[in-house]
Amino acid sequence: MSRDAVPHYLPDGPIPRHVAVIMDGNGRWAAGRSLPRHEGHWEGMKAVREVIEGSVEAGIEILTLFAFSTENWQRPEEEIRALMTLLKIYVEKEQDELHEKGVEVRVLGDLDRMDPEARDAVECIQRVTSGGDQLRLNLMISYSGRADILRATRILARKVAAGEIAPEEIDSKALSGALHTGGLPDPDLLIRTSAEFRISNFMLWQLAYTEFHITPCLWPDFTREDLFHALAEYQRRERRFGRVSAG
Ligand code: IPE
Ligand code: IPE
Ligand code: MG
Repeated sequence: MSRDAVPHYLPDGPIPRHVAVIMDGNGRWAAGRSLPRHEGHWEGMKAVREVIEGSVEAGIEILTLFAFSTENWQRPEEEIRALMTLLKIYVEKEQDELHEKGVEVRVLGDLDRMDPEARDAVECIQRVTSGGDQLRLNLMISYSGRADILRATRILARKVAAGEIAPEEIDSKALSGALHTGGLPDPDLLIRTSAEFRISNFMLWQLAYTEFHITPCLWPDFTREDLFHALAEYQRRERRFGRVSAG
């Protein structure tokens, strides 16, 4: 079905509990306008707002946004600084409204690599929004899927070494529980903007049976209608989990 044939409003049908998004294309958005890359990141904040509001409207329980990867630390210092500043501005500007909307924010990743001011901003938004029951928002910062699995492995290995669990007790549930997303269901739907057909070291364990929606839309241009379009497409999928078709 072509994009225009899909109604641009909230689709009727099962809504995914957990939606994850690889927010990509900020640099290309800026380059297309002969602007510096940080302008694209700044503009991307609007899309973050759109997708949060759209998620609350749609009744999504958990929204996970990939904001900065472990590998993104290899970007030029100036761009990293701009992104960390943006995080602080985002927290200052949005935390009260997020709290009012009932959005509970958690920031997941290797936060020790962040500067103290950025860490303070993270603590602040988590504290202010704590207890929100409309949407759980995970901001994945300084995060990668492999680092998440390695960290979980160490947590479990320490428990074995301490005699708290037997090696045989390390199963899927135990490993899932030791990840940053421990206690949350795996994403049902992954959206990646800017037409890259790769996973870029995002939630490698958690995405095992997630449906993928890849759109050419650059992240700063992404609206709640684009989210609803992705939900409509999700509703046409048949999730088989390795079994045979139900019909
Ligand atoms: C996504 O946009 C934001 C981050 C990875 C921090 P990019 O900055 O990757 O934008 P492109 O892919 O260069 O267009
Ligand atoms: C993935 O985008 C990371 C985030 C969106 C935060 P990248 O732009 O870093 O990924 P690659 O380099 O194109 O794979
Ligand atoms: Mg990119």
